[in-house]
Amino acid sequence: MKTLLLTHPMPAAPFVEALHALEPQMPVLAYHPRMGEHELADVQAVLGWRFPEGVAARLPNLRWVCSVGAGVEKLLVPELATDIPVSRIVDAEQAAGIAQYVVLMALRHARGLARYEALQRERRWSRRPTGALRCRVGVLGVGAMGGAVADMLAAVGFEVQGFSRHSGMPLAAVLGASDIVVCALPLTADTTGLLNARTLALMPRGSYLINIARGAHVVETDLIEAVRSGHLSGAALDVQEREPMPTDDPLWAVDGITITPHIAAQSSAMTIAAQFIQGWRCLQRGELPAHRVDRSKGY
Ligand code: GLV
Repeated sequence: MKTLLLTHPMPAAPFVEALHALEPQMPVLAYHPRMGEHELADVQAVLGWRFPEGVAARLPNLRWVCSVGAGVEKLLVPELATDIPVSRIVDAEQAAGIAQYVVLMALRHARGLARYEALQRERRWSRRPTGALRCRVGVLGVGAMGGAVADMLAAVGFEVQGFSRHSGMPLAAVLGASDIVVCALPLTADTTGLLNARTLALMPRGSYLINIARGAHVVETDLIEAVRSGHLSGAALDVQEREPMPTDDPLWAVDGITITPHIAAQSSAMTIAAQFIQGWRCLQRGELPAHRVDRSKGY
């Protein structure tokens, strides 16, 4: 049963190494654009981040697609037959790393660290001491990531309100009652552009956005306008619409917006390989792999 690696922009070599460390005989092919139909015809499983255009339609014997990450949206291309199971990696270590990133950015904002960094550059010793913070955080998306984020935020003293499409409180109410909003949603047709001029306007004046999900959740021009106008005090964006972000992207130069290059947390190649091999063995026994997404929902 041949596996095709579609890990670009990550190199395939660490995945090949990790898969072979655990399953030395596993037939693995790293994708390259000149692959012929005969090579692709043998592929039964894909481990990847995104489908290059047209590749899903060239895999007549495909039986399973597994994402190297928690998100699957770049693999759910229209050419992928609807009956192919798609799984994702569920990794508590990655969720903890993402939660740490969110707590870091939330505390940095809530404790006014940027102000003290600016004062230090001016050699000014100017105090504005506080007691313990009282700050409300709305976490959009309460799955494996959002749940871990909410728990860690609560553990350091934030008042946390989760939002999902099944939670009691409507989105507008959560946004309106949050000093910080964290986006931890899956990217689907319903959530693309969810944070736009209209919804950002529902957040209180001076509030802050943290995005650890996908750049396309946010209409970036609307966010820039909300920050420049002073309605939002800023944002921490680990993900952006264009990755890697080109040097001329306007997001780089907005006061109050912190950009990090999709580093909040990533599963190790070994964790990904171990989960993939479990799924691969399930498939060989005629069973369905774990951590499947609901293809109709997109997550
Ligand atoms: C990272 O963005 C992931 O989906 O795991």
